[in-house]
Amino acid sequence: MKSYAVLAFRCALEFVGVQYFSNKAARLGRANDNQSERLTGIRTNRVTIHRFRWGLLFASCCVMSAYLCAQLISAHTAQPTKTSTEINEAKAIAAFNAAYSVLTYPRCLNCHPAGNAPLQGDDSHPHFDRVQRGEDGNGVYALKCNNCHQAQNRSGLNMPPGAPNLLANGSLDYTTPRWHLPSAQTPMIFQGRTPAQLCLQLKDPKQNGGLTAEQLIHHVSADSLVLWGWNPGEGRSTPPLTHDEFVSKVRDWLENGGSCPK
Ligand code: HEC
Ligand code: HEC
Repeated sequence: MKSYAVLAFRCALEFVGVQYFSNKAARLGRANDNQSERLTGIRTNRVTIHRFRWGLLFASCCVMSAYLCAQLISAHTAQPTKTSTEINEAKAIAAFNAAYSVLTYPRCLNCHPAGNAPLQGDDSHPHFDRVQRGEDGNGVYALKCNNCHQAQNRSGLNMPPGAPNLLANGSLDYTTPRWHLPSAQTPMIFQGRTPAQLCLQLKDPKQNGGLTAEQLIHHVSADSLVLWGWNPGEGRSTPPLTHDEFVSKVRDWLENGGSCPK
């Protein structure tokens, strides 16, 4: 599109240029005419000037069409750029699909449930005691998450897992627990989402807690609940990618344009 605008602009310039020079030539010719008329009394043949004018116009047309051809050829040879964005798109989608295997792994999915209760175990069954999300994601009444879930995993099988709070400066606070679900208003549901649905949802600031792409990358690389997925406590399995691999997939996805699977 840009090259056509440039082409049109150049054609216009060329045309104005031809008009200017041929007018000038004509004036020059007339001046010469007058001069020669004065000097010799012989009128110069105006046909020469007209020939010159048309010749210039013709030459300019040749230049313009040569330029047009060059543009067309380069438009065709510019194809590889297009292919490379397609490759990036394919790379983005492949990276998202890899990240999806982690996002929907039970360690993550159990806190990103479709309903209003956290889930448990590799089969993602409802949390015992009918623990509920609550408005703010911290549970309801006596069943507040942090009554049982501490800032670290409790050792032993079937003991409550835990994770430290994140301070504003980015450091981890091992004196206060961070264990909770997303709020009822922004539930960040991963359970049951297809790759296409989850991909669009994660990029949507209205559904992801207002995160930009950069903040989303930061969240998956530094959030203590995400990190917990790879340190889930005794007897619990870990996601199919390492944490580093997962972060680099999320990065590849977003930095290659954040395209989503269809
Ligand atoms: C203990 C519950 C819990 C666990 C376990 C958990 N999350 Fe979350 N996750 C949350 C909460 C709560 C939020 C909302 C952020 C907040 O409230 O600070 C969130 C937000 C997110 C977000 C950003 C918001 C969005 O949906 O776009 C991503 C991405 C995410 N989690 C990925 C993961 C991944 C990947 C794992 C597993 C490795 C995981 N989470 C494990 C509770 C959890
Ligand atoms: C009464 C204590 C108690 C309360 C309250 C509680 N939990 Fe739990 N939770 C546990 C215990 C114990 C386990 C471990 C169960 C096991 O491994 O068999 C557990 C396991 C979990 C798991 C499973 C992790 C996994 O991947 O298998 C999640 C997720 C979870 N709780 C989230 C929550 C959330 C969110 C809240 C608050 C809304 C909450 N829990 C409230 C005691 C509690």
